[in-house]
Amino acid sequence: MFQMMRSSLKLLAVPLLLFSPLLLAEELSLEKSYEIGEGGRLYDNWAAELGVQAPRETHPGYNDYKGEKRGTATWRCKECHGWDYRGAAGQYGKGEHYTGTQGIFAARDSAVENVVERLKNDNHLFDSVLTAEQIEKVATFVVQEQLDMRLFIDVNTQEISGDARKGRGTYLQQCALCHGSSGKTRNLSYDNNRKRYLGGVAKENPWKVMHKIRFGHPGKFYSNKYDAEGRPRANMPAMLGVITLQEQVDLLAYLVTLPAK
Ligand code: HEC
Ligand code: HEC
Repeated sequence: MFQMMRSSLKLLAVPLLLFSPLLLAEELSLEKSYEIGEGGRLYDNWAAELGVQAPRETHPGYNDYKGEKRGTATWRCKECHGWDYRGAAGQYGKGEHYTGTQGIFAARDSAVENVVERLKNDNHLFDSVLTAEQIEKVATFVVQEQLDMRLFIDVNTQEISGDARKGRGTYLQQCALCHGSSGKTRNLSYDNNRKRYLGGVAKENPWKVMHKIRFGHPGKFYSNKYDAEGRPRANMPAMLGVITLQEQVDLLAYLVTLPAK
């Protein structure tokens, strides 16, 4: 018994040490959490979030002699800066998304106004496609809502330092409604031949999934539609401000245990 208590205390002590400074930064008001999350969804895919068409020509700031992408995809913030916010210093340092672009993590220390100005420069040109208000929202995400994902995703092994058992409870409460109890209700694939479910996506790209946990999935999937009982259907919710950062990490640890097939 004593033995058990000691070991569970040890398990508790590690996440507390790791997360206490971050948890402070996560005090957000619940009723505003979806609106706050808008900046994160714009970072993910502003055109999908806003229901508009991104320019079809490759972004003039895209490093097209190093990067392989062309066209609308190159207008997404994440395409140049990555899901871990570290650009070429992180997950986009190799592979099909490599561009050599720097990350945005250091910009956590700058003022929102400075990021707003930067988003209008020649490398960004976002004042040609976003309103001042939308630019401010995405800049607010940059300054206030980025996370250092290295604190809970091992960059080499992709292992998640969270408690999957606790994450299961959150999953059943917040996600199973739409994704099913084993994450297979929705096929998340964009390429036609391969079915991708939540478990597989989380194992493949935990950084992207953490971003989506926090900010939701961009776009309006069900606007003005009702289910068979006449209840309004909703978009995927943002968990930012709804559950704690520790709960988000535990949830991520559970998602990677879900079946990929
Ligand atoms: C086509 C590629 C590309 C896209 C898309 C892009 N950026 Fe950038 N970004 C860059 C480049 C190149 C730099 C470095 C030069 C500069 O600061 O303009 C940069 C720098 C930054 C910086 C400064 C980082 C620092 O540490 O000083 C921030 C913040 C930033 N981008 C945010 C964003 C946001 C938010 C979006 C989406 C609305 C976005 N970027 C979309 C290429 C891109
Ligand atoms: C109200 C319904 C709803 C709820 C609740 C919901 N989702 Fe989603 N989720 C969606 C929709 C719709 C998509 C878009 C893809 C699709 O059409 O299946 C999506 C997409 C995703 C994606 C993107 C996958 C990719 O490859 O881009 C992830 C990750 C995800 N959801 C995780 C979660 C998690 C974790 C939870 C619980 C915190 C959750 N979802 C709750 C509806 C929902």
